[in-house]
Amino acid sequence: PARYRTVHLQRAKDEGRRFAMLTAYDFQMAQVFDEAGLEVVLVGDSAANTMMGLSTTLPMTLEQIAVYAASVVRGTRHALVLSDMPFGTYEVSPQQATENAIRLVKETGVAGVKIEGGERFAEHVRMLTDAGVPVMGHIGFTPQSENVLGGYRIQGREEGAAERMIREATVLQEAGAFAVLMEMVPSDIARQVDEALRVPTVGIGAGPHTTGQVLVWQDMLGLRAGKMPRFVKRYADLRTVVSDAVTEYRRDVLEGTFPAAEHGFDS
Ligand code: KIV
Ligand code: NA
Repeated sequence: PARYRTVHLQRAKDEGRRFAMLTAYDFQMAQVFDEAGLEVVLVGDSAANTMMGLSTTLPMTLEQIAVYAASVVRGTRHALVLSDMPFGTYEVSPQQATENAIRLVKETGVAGVKIEGGERFAEHVRMLTDAGVPVMGHIGFTPQSENVLGGYRIQGREEGAAERMIREATVLQEAGAFAVLMEMVPSDIARQVDEALRVPTVGIGAGPHTTGQVLVWQDMLGLRAGKMPRFVKRYADLRTVVSDAVTEYRRDVLEGTFPAAEHGFDS
């Protein structure tokens, strides 16, 4: 299609097809993803980690994510672009959520937002959707609540977890959410949630049964240093590619082999 919309994700679920989503934060990377045919791009508040070097997503502001979101929208022609609502921009009330989401849509051109949390945000989802802002829910591990959840850990291992997650997801759906993302949820529970929902699901660390999958691009392209979470598959080793290129460039500069004659201008 000219531009993917939420209806196309719904159609994928209805027809038993999948879709792929990655985070993006800047113009050129978004352009590459878009040209590769990626259906959905998420301007994640993981930018706090990947772009700003913060250890949590909590400090990110609406103004900051708006810069990333506007850049990503300018880099895409076909992908559906969604933006996270940062911590502190939606929780207080449906009104707060709606006012801030409308600002994001007006200032950046994103087609929808994602908010973390289940049932307790049903009224937020309802008001956002009624106002014309499509909402993707996000349950399971929700990084903005890491101080309540007791750190970075898999969710849904307690007694009755499947029923609870199905209820959370269903309430979001009934409130108008066009999709529900699950992060770090046992594969079997994610499958049950996907089967219980009419709307598509998206997984990260949630197994193979969700309608769509999402990863943080610096993880899957191997730019990030250090140990990767179990759910990440590395499709490239950009850290080595970039490091080798910069090492070679520096050596050329120090040895005087760059710039060569063809890189200079005649008088
Ligand atoms: O911010 C983010 O990267 C996310 C993940 C679920 C992909 O929300
Ligand atoms: Na996020």
